[in-house]
Amino acid sequence: MADNRRPLAVLIFAASLRKGSLNDKLADLAEHLVSQQGSVVDRACMSDFDCPPYDQDVERSDGIPQPARDLCTRLQRADAFIIASPEYNASMPGYLKNAIDWVSRFRPQPFNGRQAMLLSASPSMVGGNRGLWSLRVPLEHLGTRIYPDMFSLAQAHEAFREDGRLLNDVLQQRFDATISCFLDLVEAAKHYPGLKKQWVEFLGERPDAATDRVETSDAA
Ligand SMILES: Cc1cc2nc3c(=O)[nH]c(=O)nc-3n(C[C@H](O)[C@H](O)[C@H](O)COP(=O)(O)O)c2cc1C
Repeated sequence: MADNRRPLAVLIFAASLRKGSLNDKLADLAEHLVSQQGSVVDRACMSDFDCPPYDQDVERSDGIPQPARDLCTRLQRADAFIIASPEYNASMPGYLKNAIDWVSRFRPQPFNGRQAMLLSASPSMVGGNRGLWSLRVPLEHLGTRIYPDMFSLAQAHEAFREDGRLLNDVLQQRFDATISCFLDLVEAAKHYPGLKKQWVEFLGERPDAATDRVETSDAA
C-alpha cells in the first residue's frame, strides 16, 4: 500500500440484539483481524440501528428515524461493512431487514457501491448460512458488492476459545484468510476508479425520468 493512502474504514456489527450473542463473538473476531491488518474499525451494535417498523406514513409525517440516520452516516464513512447475522427461521432477522428498508430511503442510497462481507454463527450444523443468502438479496438489490465467500460458523456455541479465537485451528486459518482476501478486494475497489458504476434499481425497465432511481457510486 502506498504511504499516502488512508487506511480502509470498515463498519462491523452483529445483527443480534441479545447479550452473549454468538454473532457478536464472531464480529469481535472479525474486528480483531481487520484492525490487525491496519484498517480502522467502526464497531457498532444492532441496538444502535434498531428502528420502529417501516411505515411510509410515518416516514412522510416524522421523517426517517434517528437509528436509520445513524446507520446511513456510518455507512457513508465506511469503505466496507461486515455483518455477522443470526439466522431466524431460515432467513435474516426481521429487525435487520427493517433497518435496511429504512436506510434504503436515503438519497444517495448508502448501500450502493459499498463492499460487504457476511458472517453468521448458529448452534446448528449449517451455521445460519441460509439467513445470509436471504440477506444478500436486499443488499445486492441496493448495489452493495457482497463478497462471494460467506463464513457461517456451525455449532457456534462450542466453537470459541476463552480468548475469543476459534477452537479449531483450521477454521481459524480459513477465517483469517477470508477476511484478508476481502480486505484486499476492498483496497483494490477503493483505489481503482474503473470499478465505479451506476446503480439502476430496475436495470432492464424502460427508462422513465419521473420514476427511475439511478445513482452513480462514489463509494469505490
Ligand atoms: C426466532 C428464532 C428463529 C431461529 N431460527 C433458526 C434457524 O432457522 N436456523 C438456525 O440455525 N438457528 C435458528 N435459531 C437459533 C439461533 O441461531 C440462535 O438462537 C443463535 O444463537 C442466535 O444468534 P445470536 O447468538 O447471535 O443471538 C433461531 C432462533 C430464534 C430465536
